Amino acid sequence: MPENLWTSEDLVAAAKGRAERANGRPIAGISIDTRTLAPGDLFVALKDQRDGHAFVGAAFKAGAAAALVSEAYEPGPNDGPLIRVRDTLSALENIGRAARARLAPEARVIAVTGSAGKTGTKDMLRAALSRLGPTHGADKSFNNHWGVPLTLARMPATTRFGVFEIGMNHAGEITPLVALVRPHVAIITTVEPVHLAQFPSVEAIAEAKAEIFTGLEPGGTAIINRDNPHFELLRRRAEARGARVVAFGQDGRADVRPKVAELSSEGTVMEVDVGGRQVHMRVAVPGIHIARNALAVAAAIDAAGGDLDEALPALAALAPPPGRGTRTELSFQGGRILLIDESYNANPASMRAALAVLGTVPRDAFRRRIAVLGDMLELGEYEKTHHVALKEAVDAAGTDLVFACGPNMAHLFSALEPSRQGAWAPSSQELRDPLFAALAPGDVVMIKGSNGSRMGPLAEALRGT
Ligand SMILES: Nc1ncnc2c1ncn2[C@@H]1O[C@H](COP(=O)(O)OP(=O)(O)OP(=O)(O)O)[C@@H](O)[C@H]1O
Ligand SMILES: [Mg+2]
Repeated sequence: MPENLWTSEDLVAAAKGRAERANGRPIAGISIDTRTLAPGDLFVALKDQRDGHAFVGAAFKAGAAAALVSEAYEPGPNDGPLIRVRDTLSALENIGRAARARLAPEARVIAVTGSAGKTGTKDMLRAALSRLGPTHGADKSFNNHWGVPLTLARMPATTRFGVFEIGMNHAGEITPLVALVRPHVAIITTVEPVHLAQFPSVEAIAEAKAEIFTGLEPGGTAIINRDNPHFELLRRRAEARGARVVAFGQDGRADVRPKVAELSSEGTVMEVDVGGRQVHMRVAVPGIHIARNALAVAAAIDAAGGDLDEALPALAALAPPPGRGTRTELSFQGGRILLIDESYNANPASMRAALAVLGTVPRDAFRRRIAVLGDMLELGEYEKTHHVALKEAVDAAGTDLVFACGPNMAHLFSALEPSRQGAWAPSSQELRDPLFAALAPGDVVMIKGSNGSRMGPLAEALRGT
């Protein structure tokens, strides 16, 4: 029997709400979506794209133990217990704050931000820390103004390690979220030119990421990428908050750095110096960017007082989250094709990293390297430059053919040598036919683009062939 997440009394108090039709039934979980609600959950009626109050009836039908609603809500005929509040999002934040406050003093909370690699790093931490004690972390990305409080509200009282992803699109967004999370350890994976449409410069992005240090607990640890050009700025911001700084990376001055590293298409094996101690690491997901995130993971576990030898072997068995390098071997015309599905999202840094991984697939197993690339979005005025600049990474990976779609990728496509040009199309949908016509057994196909470029369906179609 799983423990109950909240007693109904504690939940009403945490939400700072008013109970109506209370029946004392405990709360097993927290849901904001009736399609995934499990019996016994509290349904929180948030107003986002749609108003959750329209779904309260459906929530009770699905077995909700109670619903958190605003004062104006008119109960339906089959409604059960209600918790009334002025604003449901503020109430969810209140529940999250209470969940954080009730953790035992020895519990450790880790927050992860960065321009790329938050979810992957969070998942590595979850897997590794689960070997040491009860660990709670976000599902999926859940890193925004509702995702963070929801993840907090779902945290059991017995949690030993809490792991939170915190994201942002604008300056000022991280501050209130990290104030809820109150981490002992804060990681910034990397600072990269993404969201440039919303920021005047990459330095401004670094400043916004540094907001994560504002929420650190006294005596907390800041874990920063030594290989990133913005390291010094981030270090200054962390030290200004009284944080202990731990640097990770390949730089010889990093506190956590690989002494030996072997990168292959099967993953990375490293002997790592963690503040003077040697640890062995095997990371199943390939790529130097993932290996670097894994250094941050080791640094964070160490800072949280965890046993690295006990925790780190989990990384040898961990697959990437969906669409972030997922590998599938497909039967194709009597032979095999290797699909590397990177379709979840893209920015210049993750695009380069993914191309580099394509370049590590041995030629004896798969003879042609094919990159299928969709537009990187939200790059503002630097859009064209960032796309054309990928040519170097395409060439360095020994890419045999590029299939590209979207107006931005047209810039890269026309910059390529003609022998590397597969086909270009305005949209991912229109790229499908020329791509499928060109594929042959023995190809390795890496598909990547920003979420809005809809590369996912293309990967899905390939898996369906
Ligand atoms: N340190 C890194 N540098 C560059 N790219 C990276 C890094 N870490 C991961 N990536 C790549 O970035 C992509 C997104 O990874 P992930 O989902 O972990 O990032 P995220 O920061 O959570 O993204 P989002 O902001 O969409 O939540 C993947 O393709 C992943 O391989
Ligand atoms: Mg994420």
